[in-house]
Amino acid sequence: MDFSCRALAYCRPGFEKDLAAEMIQRCGKRGVAASATPQLNAGYVLCEIDAPQEEARLFLRFRDLIFARQLVWVQAWLEDLPEKDRLTPIMGALDLLHGRFARLWAETADTNEAKTLSSFFKRFMPHLERALVERKRLIERAELPTLHLFFLDSSRLWIATSEANEASQWPMGIARMRMPREAPSRSTLKLAEAFDALLTEDERKTTLRAGLKAVDLGAAPGGWTWQFAHRGILVTAVDNGPMADTVKATGLVEHVRADGFVWKPKRPVEWMVCDMVEQPSRVAQLVADWVAAGRCRRCIFNLKLPMKKRHEEIERARALIHKRLSVSGREWTLRFKHLYHDREEVTGYLTASK
Ligand SMILES: C[S@@+](CC[C@H](N)C(=O)[O-])C[C@H]1O[C@@H](n2cnc3c(N)ncnc32)[C@H](O)[C@@H]1O
Repeated sequence: MDFSCRALAYCRPGFEKDLAAEMIQRCGKRGVAASATPQLNAGYVLCEIDAPQEEARLFLRFRDLIFARQLVWVQAWLEDLPEKDRLTPIMGALDLLHGRFARLWAETADTNEAKTLSSFFKRFMPHLERALVERKRLIERAELPTLHLFFLDSSRLWIATSEANEASQWPMGIARMRMPREAPSRSTLKLAEAFDALLTEDERKTTLRAGLKAVDLGAAPGGWTWQFAHRGILVTAVDNGPMADTVKATGLVEHVRADGFVWKPKRPVEWMVCDMVEQPSRVAQLVADWVAAGRCRRCIFNLKLPMKKRHEEIERARALIHKRLSVSGREWTLRFKHLYHDREEVTGYLTASK
């Protein structure tokens, strides 16, 4: 019996090696052999795993993978699709695949080359969608899996699936968010995406409520601060630089000109966020200190990564936070994600549960 399965993960082009290393390491921790041959700038990693898919899904999870924008499970590979009739072979492969789906996504890697497929998708996908609806394979039930058609070009693709709660909710794993008109910097989208990607639905409801308090270290011109203020959260914005008028106009922001590594709140707050461009270890130490000392319940922070050994740098930060919080007597959770709006950086979420 062949037990091996294949997981396909998408990433920002240039981060394939980091993603492949992470996937192999996750499998290795369970004593399961895995292999991947990452191609630089491909925008995806295909990982062969020596375990049945149902088992591998339990230890290789989207939410644990830092560099994965998306994680799907390969069901079939199709190549040499005839230009005149691509529908028949794709439907043939889908007929062999059991189950019904809530969503059908035509996807590619996030590369300029792959993006040229969009006009082909516009022409072709409505036909496929219609055929699946007619066969009652595509129905409006949000909890059903997603069907992913990941095209390398118009004649080659992987057919893959993902479970509703085990994958990114965005096609291609790309958080497409509208830039709010009043927000003063595009980096506002980074925090909006972090809320979406790193918090549970319950956490979003209970911790992004009007009346709570937040501190934004390195706040100017105020894109992150705006994310809190427009939810009615009171923000202390710490930065020597100026804050934008649209942010001050919310009436919910106190601007403090001070060093973010030194300034401390008089009373505990729900949130501390930190977007200061600094050494990752210095930022890690700062957020660990805040949570350990009970100055805040939760932090979202940015770690700027070096060009090489990115994974090692994150592990160093993780170890520093672990060391500081272990002696604090608190329980905590820590997650990192390379967000769509992150470039040479990752976003961390640290929260204390008591
Ligand atoms: C990337 S920008 C922040 C952008 C902001 N998150 C936004 O959405 O508009 C980094 C900011 O950190 C501030 N900064 C850097 N080091 C700092 C420090 N030690 N104390 C306070 N602010 C600092 C800089 O002045 C700069 O405004």
